[in-house]
Amino acid sequence: MFGRPDGGEGVMGASARGRGESRTHGVRDAGARTDSPTLTDREFGQFQRLLYRIAGISLSPAKKALVSGRLSKRIRQRGVSSYGEYLRLLSDNSEREELQIALDLLTTNETHFFREPDHFEVLRSEALRVGTAGTAFRVWSAACSSGEEPCSIAMVLADVLGGRRWEVLGSDISSRVLERARGGRYPVERAREIPPKYLSAYCLRGVRSSAGAMLVRRELRDRMQIRPINLNTGLPPLGEFDVIFLRNVMIYFDLETKRQVVRRVAARLRRGGCLIVGHSESLNGIDERLKIERPSVYRNE
Ligand SMILES: C[S@@+](CC[C@H](N)C(=O)[O-])C[C@H]1O[C@@H](n2cnc3c(N)ncnc32)[C@H](O)[C@@H]1O
Repeated sequence: MFGRPDGGEGVMGASARGRGESRTHGVRDAGARTDSPTLTDREFGQFQRLLYRIAGISLSPAKKALVSGRLSKRIRQRGVSSYGEYLRLLSDNSEREELQIALDLLTTNETHFFREPDHFEVLRSEALRVGTAGTAFRVWSAACSSGEEPCSIAMVLADVLGGRRWEVLGSDISSRVLERARGGRYPVERAREIPPKYLSAYCLRGVRSSAGAMLVRRELRDRMQIRPINLNTGLPPLGEFDVIFLRNVMIYFDLETKRQVVRRVAARLRRGGCLIVGHSESLNGIDERLKIERPSVYRNE
């Protein structure tokens, strides 16, 4: 059950209930190994190349322990004897689902609601400036992780534009985080990250069997489209956006990948639209169409 954050009750929709991390990923339990193999430098190099080829992510040598740590449980579950054997499995065409699982495990998905709050002020003023014109105001959260970013965007747009036409696209390469984004259900401690007026207007608090959880209201989730998109390949048809959030993902890319990703993403920006990157990221010298307006905020001129 979910109720208003102030204590009122509401019934959680069946589609949201139970959407947790319950996937078994075809785990082979019988005969699963319990000892952990060692990741050799050669195997680590193969993982580096694999992740770079697929996702454009550059793993520094310092990430070797992270790779072995994140994959060790899965390797035991699959009952393979070494990282090399697991790599061979990943190159098998009939194991495409396993490749997605490895990607899910190797990507870093840290995020939170209203992260880098000044960007939501930029969004608010853009929505006020162009969102009332009559055409749909469209925002893309590219690399949205588990959905806190597109939900935060949707809360601002619901507040500023209400029933006018607006929509939010959230996308990521990891299917595991997208499943969470679709559910819109988060641990209730996350409520602290949400400004109180948005929390009471757009979130429900879990009660009884859902105690400890918080649900973003369906009215908001209905305006959000969540889909898998790999920024390291050609993009599917998406139309144009007024604002694009491309935050805290380029830190994983080398310069050439960053150039290509920004070129692809910026091509989806409306003339005069805004591209927002993370505060620790910069697009200096990356794409001359994008003019810096203030640190981390660029305009397509
Ligand atoms: C650290 S999170 C950032 C989430 C959110 N944008 C924020 O700032 O809080 C980085 C996300 O980028 C995603 N990612 C990494 N490489 C990607 C790629 N090639 N295409 C799409 N998403 C990617 C990861 O799966 C991860 O969820």
